[in-house]
Amino acid sequence: MRQKPFTTSLLACALAAAFSANAADIKLGAAEALSGGAAQYGISIRNGFQLALDEINAAGGINGDKLQLVIEDEQGKKEEAINVFKKLIFQDKVLLVFGPTLSNSAQAADPIAQAAKTVAFGTSNTADGITSIGDCVFRNSVTEADVLPETIKMAIKKSGIKKVAVMYGNDDVFTKSGYDNFKKALEDLKVPVTTTETFAKGDVDFKAQLTKIKAGNPDAIVLSALLAEGAPIMVQARQIGLNVPFIGGNGMNSVKVFDLARDKSDGLYVGSPWSASNTSAENSKFVKAYSDKYKTAPDQFAAQSYDALYITTQALKQVKLSGNLATDRSAVRDALPNVKWTGATGAFQFRRASDRAGKPAGYDAQQTPIVSVTKGGQFVIEK
Ligand code: ALA
Repeated sequence: MRQKPFTTSLLACALAAAFSANAADIKLGAAEALSGGAAQYGISIRNGFQLALDEINAAGGINGDKLQLVIEDEQGKKEEAINVFKKLIFQDKVLLVFGPTLSNSAQAADPIAQAAKTVAFGTSNTADGITSIGDCVFRNSVTEADVLPETIKMAIKKSGIKKVAVMYGNDDVFTKSGYDNFKKALEDLKVPVTTTETFAKGDVDFKAQLTKIKAGNPDAIVLSALLAEGAPIMVQARQIGLNVPFIGGNGMNSVKVFDLARDKSDGLYVGSPWSASNTSAENSKFVKAYSDKYKTAPDQFAAQSYDALYITTQALKQVKLSGNLATDRSAVRDALPNVKWTGATGAFQFRRASDRAGKPAGYDAQQTPIVSVTKGGQFVIEK
């Protein structure tokens, strides 16, 4: 007789445990540059994640489980990116890690995730070779190799460009990769280069290079730079009367260019699948929700992190989590490549990348870029 309540309470405990296991948090990590020069991108990325996280959890999470995102500052430095990846993967035991912000840091930190068989999902890394690190490395940021030829072609069509000067940062994985891809595209399109000039991270005075560029009388300046250097380069070019268009890579594709270069920000061509002017239902919802929440306009860095969390959510919905971290991490890895998603950046799917020996490795983004030019403090789509 006395056994029954005991059995009932055992059953109640078991049910409660089962219920709380079902309603557990699914813990993901994000290593992003929230301080330093690359915070121009990292803050937007964090905001995009946070917006998507709130929406996904408000809509019921993943099959009833809540998503949790542990976000850490990797300061835009590769040593910090390594430290933060280690913390998220080994201490916090996240299921998947987003970031880091810069390709320069991803090249250093992604091998940590690969060795731990944990997905590293970049939302802003656009340099060549990042996804050749291994089959746990994913990105939804379209590469310089895919975007730059389209940006140059549109600039030629719209601005009648016959010859260009090239300027690039020679101490950063992304700016060097941008340079390689610009060079190849210019050769393919048979556009002569008047001069090629370089700079380094942290430089503030670009007048010597710009004076040489001016002497060559180019029709445009092809610029592979991050914003911290790229925006002052635009300002200083205009100050010495160099008023030709700029053709930039992903590092220049941010609304922050308007804050940094102000009235000298016109005439910059950039390409990306995302545009503020895209009026699709998904993008209109994103732009409104972002602007309402943060009282500022989103950029493509925010759009890409927002979409990345939704892409990951689609994969998580297909996975039956076992509670064994290694098994669950590898199930997430296996589910991700099959995701197709239409979000703020349009229709998205992954494309298999190869390693240096040509063997299948990680996954790149398969998306079509849109080319825009800056006019009066806005990116305007070119057709
Ligand atoms: N797209 C830039 C990079 O890959 C931010 O570093």
